[in-house]
Amino acid sequence: MWSRAALTEVRAITDGLMQPKAEISPKYFYDERGSALFEDITRLPEYYVTRVERSILQRHAGAITESVGKGGVVIEPGAGNCEKARALCLLLQAREFVGIDISSDHLQESVRNMQSDMPWMHARAVAADITQPVHLPGDVPTGQRLVFYPGSSIGNFEPAQAVRLLAQMRQLLGAPEDGGGLLIGIDLPKPVHLLQAAYDDAAGVTAAFNRNVLAHVNRRIGSDFVPEHWRHRAFFDASHSRVEMHLAAQTAQSVRWPGGGRDFAAGERIHTENSYKHSLAAFASLLALAGFSKHRSWTDEQGWVALIHAWQQ
Ligand code: AVJ
Repeated sequence: MWSRAALTEVRAITDGLMQPKAEISPKYFYDERGSALFEDITRLPEYYVTRVERSILQRHAGAITESVGKGGVVIEPGAGNCEKARALCLLLQAREFVGIDISSDHLQESVRNMQSDMPWMHARAVAADITQPVHLPGDVPTGQRLVFYPGSSIGNFEPAQAVRLLAQMRQLLGAPEDGGGLLIGIDLPKPVHLLQAAYDDAAGVTAAFNRNVLAHVNRRIGSDFVPEHWRHRAFFDASHSRVEMHLAAQTAQSVRWPGGGRDFAAGERIHTENSYKHSLAAFASLLALAGFSKHRSWTDEQGWVALIHAWQQ
């Protein structure tokens, strides 16, 4: 039997596949294999985002700590393995950590590990889809909350959606006088060859990551995609300032699933991801639209990635 939630999800996926330009949401990258492949991506020589962001946090540790304040509550939406939050909580001597993610098993284990490594801090996991309004447990302290959204995850969202998500994060902070803030990482515009390499690496890890979405979708909706018959495509679209990832049918494909199906011509594509590269100025206007009136930012020497502390006044 399909649960109602599972049916809604099947509908959302098949609707995307039936669009004139077929699409699959990037959230379906992250099954178990996809999450492992993404971790491999973060260690690739071409994929600078994770490494550079970590170096910014190290290099500007003093200034960042001063800006966000010590001893507060760190809240991480989409926490995954909590690796980045761990470094931040240590730096800030956080009193509490709240990790939020859809797949709760993985998260609960990471949070347990964090708790045993940092006994002075209260760590807990909340299972929730961050694109929906999130309700925190009633006993999470209301003062000095810091929403941490690293890794340029915000880049997956269209600007209007990003504003909605940022506004939702602001809701978690309470009133301006509660002293909350947002610490968010963004990937800045840079020469196209660097972006191209980062999203189409020589070892083919990103290609495997992209293709794996089809295996995941097969399990979700009972479709019969053959991932090996699809080619990884990644390119920078300057008009939207975003990297797009697609899967292109190598030969004509006839894909079936219970209750439907679609034929794809050779070369026809499925759009699997947008990864926006916002400039600091462009991102500041999204923050303002979401109600964050103030911000301060730090970047690496090459200006590839920015960490931004934003708050309401
Ligand atoms: C997790 C969304 C930040 O856009 O760089 C990495 C995902 N896709 N390589 C990104 C991703 C291809 C990543 N984010």
